[in-house]
Amino acid sequence: MCLKYDIDIIQLRKYFQRILTEEYLFFMNQIKKHLFICTSCTYSKPSGVESSPEEAVTLRRNLKNKIRESELKDSVKVSSVTCLGECQSGIAGVLYPKGEWFLGLRPEDESKLLDIITKD
Ligand code: FES
Repeated sequence: MCLKYDIDIIQLRKYFQRILTEEYLFFMNQIKKHLFICTSCTYSKPSGVESSPEEAVTLRRNLKNKIRESELKDSVKVSSVTCLGECQSGIAGVLYPKGEWFLGLRPEDESKLLDIITKD
């Protein structure tokens, strides 16, 4: 279960299994990488204040816009998800097709993520 939104992780896994169907694999032939960012995540700031999910939304939107403005716009996709089941450590993301996880992300990690996405 997602600790914040009472989301059934089994349903989330079924969702990922569904998108990894042949249709999705065909789609993945056109794009090289697909980053999913959880836009529900929050985290505790050093001041003790809990962040807003809007920070995750902004991180995802900024990454998506930068990819759209680059030569990678047809080969890299950035999508939002409601929960990845990794709610404890900050903003969570996963990059396919490798299945590379990013936990504890902060809005300031945008450049680092962009570097990882655009390499290769
Ligand atoms: S709220 Fe669960 S991973 Fe973001």
